[in-house]
Amino acid sequence: MHPASLYPERVSSGLLCGRCAVGLIFAALALSACVTAAPVQEAPVSASLAGDAPLASAQRPLIIAHRGASGYVPEHTLEAYDLGISQGADFIEPDLVSTQDGHLVARHENRIDLTTDVAQRFPLRKTTKTVEGKVETGWFIEDFTLAEIRTLRAKERLPFRSRAFDGKFAIPTFGEVVALAKRRSAELGRTVGVYPETKQPTYFRSLALPLEEPLLNELATAGWTTEQSPVFIQSFDAASLRFLKSRTRVRLIQLLGDSQADVSLSDVKQYAFGVGVTKTLLLRVTQKGQKLEPTGFLERARAAGLAVHVWTFRNESLFLAPLDQGKPEQEICRFVALGVEGLFTDFPDTTLQALETRCGRK
Ligand code: G3P
Ligand code: CA
Repeated sequence: MHPASLYPERVSSGLLCGRCAVGLIFAALALSACVTAAPVQEAPVSASLAGDAPLASAQRPLIIAHRGASGYVPEHTLEAYDLGISQGADFIEPDLVSTQDGHLVARHENRIDLTTDVAQRFPLRKTTKTVEGKVETGWFIEDFTLAEIRTLRAKERLPFRSRAFDGKFAIPTFGEVVALAKRRSAELGRTVGVYPETKQPTYFRSLALPLEEPLLNELATAGWTTEQSPVFIQSFDAASLRFLKSRTRVRLIQLLGDSQADVSLSDVKQYAFGVGVTKTLLLRVTQKGQKLEPTGFLERARAAGLAVHVWTFRNESLFLAPLDQGKPEQEICRFVALGVEGLFTDFPDTTLQALETRCGRK
């Protein structure tokens, strides 16, 4: 059995994970910078979020609300992020793309008809284009201004999740996501961080709609410019991260899919604080069948000095290994026992409950 067969998200990657088979892009980009200097006082950061904390010293792994609490509410809406915070998330995770007029908004990919009502509101804007070598027909964020995007409402992507909130929630800008994190941090008396991902950054730069500069400008406006800031920036695209490394001290995370087990981690360490990996990079099926064993990747990451965050934890049986059917907390605790520092989850409440009541303390 191939390890991927334990985790159906890898099989249905087109539906769930836009960059599951992504290759690292190390080609140099001719990138230019126009990043504003940090003008604002640094926000307080809790000990568990401190960038200079030893890699495995946090009392428990960070809970990262993946696209918000997207198991309950349409992904990448303020309501999904807000629910994730209420459920105990340490970080909220916006994927970022650009509008036609250069505003960063939270969507998983540039194609927006899969997660919004754009087809109903702008029926004539359907088009066919080639995006990163793939021909696609639909509606695309780069063809819409922010004013137009603000007229849209989000809808659930996955057919087996609730549609009760379809048509109710707007598409947020990155600035609005940051503002939410700050407001809830003040309300709760604990720091809620942001964990933005640059999506299709090379494609957007080719359209003269780069993601990195507005992202850094927004973080600078927030006063989040150092390794102590409650921010991780993630990408599958190494060139995007290398560019960011040259312009910010905020911690960077290299995302790795299951075809990337052999990446040079010493190279990654040159620019990244850590790696964000799919589960199968850390655990594989034993030759005899239904048990899982460590791949050794985590130890290699440790040796390179990299933190390790894992994606994506989901409650539905579809996403669980046969030995974990009906018991998402069992899977969570298995990765906690490995010693990872962060868990991307669609269900922050399940993850927090597992961490607090089920997983043995290290
Ligand atoms: O961002 C971490 C991981 O979830 C990457 O996958 O496709 O959900 O952005 P995706
Ligand atoms: Ca993501």
